[in-house]
Order: sequence, then C-alpha cells, then structure tokens
Amino acid sequence: MDSIRITGGVPLHGRIAISGAKNAALPLMACGLLTDERLTLTNAARLADLATMAELLAQHGLAVDWQGRAISLGGQITNTEAPYDIVRKMRASILVLGPLLARAGQARVSLPGGCAIGTRPVDLHLKGLEAMGAVIRLDGGYIEATAPHGLRGATFVFPFVSVGATENLLMAASLAEGQTILKNAAREPEITDLACCLIAMGANIEGLGTDTLVVDGVKRLHGATHAILPDRIETGTYACAAAITGGDIFLENARAADLGAVLASLREAGVVISEEETGFRVTRANGLHGVDAMTEPFPGFPTDMQAQFMALMAVADGASMVTETIFENRFMHVPELNRMGARINVHGASAIIRGVKSLSGAPVMATDLRASVSLVLAGLAAKGDTVISRVYHLDRGYEAVEQKLAACGARIERV
Ligand code: UD1
Repeated sequence: MDSIRITGGVPLHGRIAISGAKNAALPLMACGLLTDERLTLTNAARLADLATMAELLAQHGLAVDWQGRAISLGGQITNTEAPYDIVRKMRASILVLGPLLARAGQARVSLPGGCAIGTRPVDLHLKGLEAMGAVIRLDGGYIEATAPHGLRGATFVFPFVSVGATENLLMAASLAEGQTILKNAAREPEITDLACCLIAMGANIEGLGTDTLVVDGVKRLHGATHAILPDRIETGTYACAAAITGGDIFLENARAADLGAVLASLREAGVVISEEETGFRVTRANGLHGVDAMTEPFPGFPTDMQAQFMALMAVADGASMVTETIFENRFMHVPELNRMGARINVHGASAIIRGVKSLSGAPVMATDLRASVSLVLAGLAAKGDTVISRVYHLDRGYEAVEQKLAACGARIERV
C-alpha cells in the first residue's frame, strides 16, 4: 500500500493550479442520467471518486468517455440498480437515486451505511422524494423506490441543511410534473454549479445561491457542455499549506468568494491574502495567532476545512477552539496530530488546541480524506520525516497532491 513521506520545514513558494471541484463533479456526473443526449463536463479532476462515479454510471448503461479533463456521458439507462459493491466505496453514489427515479420511474440503490465520520443517514433524501410521490421501502440493505404515477412537484422544507439531499431533489424536481419548492436548501457553491448545469440542459430553476429553490419541471432535458467550478476545499487546503510553512503561494483559478469564512479566519490568524484577477496569493511572513472556528453550512466555515485549519492552529501562538457542528466523530485527525507533538484536547464537539512552537515528524495514519490532508499539512511544517500511510483516502479528493506541493519546494514523495 502506498504511503507519503514528507521531510518538513521548507517554506513553500510558487504557484498551484486549482483543479475542478470533486463535490461539484459528482452530482454533475449524475445529471448524465437525466438525458439521452450527450452531457460534457470540462475541468474534471483525475480523482478516484470520479472514477467510482463513472463506474457506477457505466453499469446503469451510460457510455462514459473520459478524455483529458473532459468527461462525456451519454446513452440510455439500462439498469436501475446501484449495487452495494460500488455504493460502499463512495457515499455520494446516493446521488443517482433522484435522477434514476425521475427518468426511469424506479431505482434500487444500496444504503450507504455508516462511514468513518459518523452515521450519515439518508432520511432527508428519501423524505423529499416521498413528498414528490415516490413510494420507498427498505429491503435487504437496499432502497427500493418507485414513482408509480411519475414524480410531481411538491414543497419540501429541509429540517436542517443537507448538501446531498438538496442535490438529489433538485435533479429529480427538474423532470417532475409541476412546481417544486425546496426551502432551507443548501447554498453551497456546488449546488449553484449543479443548478447552472441543469439550466443549460433545459431546466427551469430560480433562487440560485439562496435557501429557497423553485423548480418548474420540464418533460425532458437535453445535452449540454458545462465547466466544473474550481475546488474551494483544495484551494483552502493549499492556502493552509502556505500559511503553515510560512510561505507564499499563488492559487490559480481559485475563487475567494467561495471561501469567505476560511479566508476571514486565515486573515484573523495573521495570514495575508491578496486577490488578483486569476486567483489569489497566500503569504505568511510573521507569526500565527490562535483563532476559533465553528463549522456551519455555507456560507459558514466548511466542515471539509476543519481538519486542515486545526493542523494550522496546532502551531499558532496561543489557544484556539474548533467546534464541529455538521458531523459527529470528525476529530480522527486529533490523536495523529498529537503524535506529532500537537496539544489538542477534544471535549464533545469542540477541540481545544494549545499552539506549540513546532511539530515533529512521525509515522501517522490517514483515516478519511480531509483528516489525511491535515496530516500532510502538519508534515510540511514538522521537523524531520513524517510518513503517512493509507493514502488512498487522499487520492479520492486531491489531484496530484505530491506534484503540486513538490513544485512549490516541498520535500514530498510517494513510497
Ligand atoms: C457533502 C459533501 C461533504 C461535506 C458535506 C457537508 C459531497 C459529495 N460531499 O456531503 O464533503 O462534508 O456535504 O458540507 O458533496 N444528514 C441526515 N440525513 C440525510 C442527509 C444528511 O441526517 O438524509 C446529516 C448528515 O449526517 C450530516 C448533515 O446532515 O450530519 C449534513 O450532511 P450533508 O450536507 O447531507 O452531507 P453530504 O451531502 O453527505
């Protein structure tokens, strides 16, 4: 199994090109099920999770053609079952449920089950589809859904914000009969990107970027070409890499507007962010101060940046508190960071971080995607060698991570 070895202590200088967003690409790929015509997505990153989605769509009958940075999807749905073997690898597989139901009137999708960062149920996806007329039962670990009279528009109020459920319902509503109103919908930039693609395919959606999405269903959607937005979490991660090493990195294609809360916290901690036309520069010449952060749905501080920010706070002056409100059990990076000399205590949903002068390299283990990259960041700042095992987590969501960091001077290699 691959591991990554980092010899820390080098301030990073250079440019990093930000790839297309993983979390936008996955629902956008599922849109391929909504039309027989060709859907082409450009700016697709080479990531394991996208390959998993391609595999899933191919077994539903779509022809998936991946050339360079473009993914083309087309063809008819020939199979409406999403099997356990693929769904267990990637929870976002649940995103085929709404499109399959809307297009084929039926779907059988394996329940994703628990995962490392909490129980993560899918009840909101199911309740929303039921409100649109779907009949759902659970059998043998599978969601069996049918829409005997077709899906019809409905008003659905999310009791709390869910990114995936908003995406599933938005896709289904685009082909439902009549009007759907989604209230307390997620406002993440990836939702707006999905809505833009659906509109390019012929959907009627209003309220983009707000918590109320109004969808007037159409009979059919057509093909389109859509460019996937840049990955805000990859952006924020490399911003932390510049900050933790006291370096200076220009992030190409990065969109500051998608990362408001993170950039505000970085600035408060003493990091300098300068926006330019094609991206922004992240520099740290002076010390870092401890800053508190609490994860929230967009536009709040993203849970997917929590682990990386904690690694940064581990070497800041003073104490800080990081509170996780989206997922339970998302502090698995804490014991690993502590093995590298960090002083972090977890109390319920909050972690108290007492900054230390320096971290020291150690063998550590990756547990999930964002936890693994927080260990990479810690390794870049640490004295000595850090060896991170189980790096397949990283390959799910970070394209060419070693190459991008090495180009800025990092001593990093895959072994
Ligand atoms: C998406 C992102 C993930 C990110 C998360 C929160 C993708 C592929 N993944 O995940 O990287 O960390 O948003 O920003 O885009 N919940 C329920 N019932 C449901 C659905 C969700 O209780 O039916 C709970 C979850 O357990 C969690 C919270 O709601 O506690 C938010 O989850 P959600 O926004 O749905 O996350 P995902 O779409 O799975």
